[in-house]
Amino acid sequence: GKIWVLHGPNLNLLGRREPDKYGVQTLEEINKELIHKAQTVGIPIQVEQTNFEGELIQWIHSMGPDDFLIINPGAWTHYSYAVRDAITSVQVPAIEVHLSNIHAREEFRKTSVIAPVCRGQISGLGGKSYSLALDYALEVLTQN
Ligand code: DQA
Repeated sequence: GKIWVLHGPNLNLLGRREPDKYGVQTLEEINKELIHKAQTVGIPIQVEQTNFEGELIQWIHSMGPDDFLIINPGAWTHYSYAVRDAITSVQVPAIEVHLSNIHAREEFRKTSVIAPVCRGQISGLGGKSYSLALDYALEVLTQN
């Protein structure tokens, strides 16, 4: 199995985008840590970011049955039934992650249409949201 980390729209701007909400770490810095951690334990990892919903969906479609998905769907979290359906279509275990605490912000961010098809959600811990999700994914994949 392989771990996929998929970042959705606007996350390429991390570091410069609303740092009070999303922190000063760039996406590249976050990715580096994740890749390093997975490589240390010898688990393959693929990390991608896109601003195009269809591209995200196609990466999900290319996942194998023994893969694991760590996904920050960005604003798609709140309304993309297409991303949700892609996850259920391939039946891969997934964790939804957010840098900010989506439950402590605007009303529209409190709803996730993705979380119900994931094992769980980690929200509000900044870059740590990703690394904790990766710890779990590595645990699952090394047990298989
Ligand atoms: C986000 C939260 C979303 O509401 C927002 O649209 C994002 C980032 C987060 O990581 O905190 O793009 O997913």
